[in-house]
Amino acid sequence: METYQLTNGVTIPKIGFGTWQIPDGEEAHRAVLYALEAGYRHIDTAQIYGNEASVGQALADSGLAREDIFLTTKVWNDKVGVEDTLASVEESMTKLGVDYLDLLLIHWPNPQAIRDGIGWKERNAQVWSALETLYKEGKAKAIGVSNFMEHHLESLLETAEITPMVNQIMLAPGTPQTELVAYCKAKGILLEAYSPFGTGTLFQSQEAADLAKEAGCSVAQLALAWSLDKGFLPLPKSTSPENIKANLDIADLSISPEAVAQLDKLEGVKGWLDPDQAGF
Ligand SMILES: NC(=O)c1ccc[n+]([C@@H]2O[C@H](COP(=O)([O-])OP(=O)(O)OC[C@H]3O[C@@H](n4cnc5c(N)ncnc54)[C@H](OP(=O)(O)O)[C@@H]3O)[C@@H](O)[C@H]2O)c1
Repeated sequence: METYQLTNGVTIPKIGFGTWQIPDGEEAHRAVLYALEAGYRHIDTAQIYGNEASVGQALADSGLAREDIFLTTKVWNDKVGVEDTLASVEESMTKLGVDYLDLLLIHWPNPQAIRDGIGWKERNAQVWSALETLYKEGKAKAIGVSNFMEHHLESLLETAEITPMVNQIMLAPGTPQTELVAYCKAKGILLEAYSPFGTGTLFQSQEAADLAKEAGCSVAQLALAWSLDKGFLPLPKSTSPENIKANLDIADLSISPEAVAQLDKLEGVKGWLDPDQAGF
């Protein structure tokens, strides 16, 4: 699989396998194992997904070498200080059965529970300093953030020693987040595109179906081509073997500038949440 390169030289496979809402146990194990067999080498999980143990079991059962897999997890909103962040990451690594992570992210920039307390600026500075420690120790080969808007990044950079290498945000047809993308790109921050199909809502769009027909591909392929055309790293999720495989089958797909422009403005694709208002 083709790769992007992060600012620290680490390479990252251009498409990742999303695992949100895949229940721990048989289902997550089966989906991740199938994805690895189908050729994915990049798996995206998170503490809050509750499926790290099954993801880890699938990695082990795949028989693939650790260094051939790119593995991401994310620190959840209830981690506020340095110590609880470090402890939670140790726990994640134990569940995943690994002794390092390829990418470790702060999941959300403004957890509801700290809005009236320590506040997001201080919380993010502390959690980030824990991630920097893990990076320096080699326990995370790359570190980054998720759902950060420009003001969250600007604040983080006031105290950060290391600039985040990745920002994982909602990027799908209809949600191109043009200004935030330009800001991140200028800082060398790779954009990972989560919910590249708007958690499935994209498939209800007649306009997307028409554009896909015109391009001679499926709606999913069109969305992934849109994402890659913009230099994003899409993270499609599926539990269907057929779709898991199809979402990797995009090698020869190109998309016209007109289709990109139309997809930028597509209506009805859901999934973006204001991180400063999110109820968790
Ligand atoms: N950092 C964050 O805050 C955050 C937030 C949301 C998501 N994410 C990450 O991004 C990943 C993907 O986002 P998402 O889970 O919201 O969903 P998504 O990938 O946008 O869409 C998944 C939906 O599309 C369907 N689908 C997948 N491939 C298809 C295909 N080829 N044809 C038709 N339908 C297809 C799936 O159904 P089937 O399963 O039946 O195929 C599922 O209903 C997550 O799993 C997670 O890793 C991160």
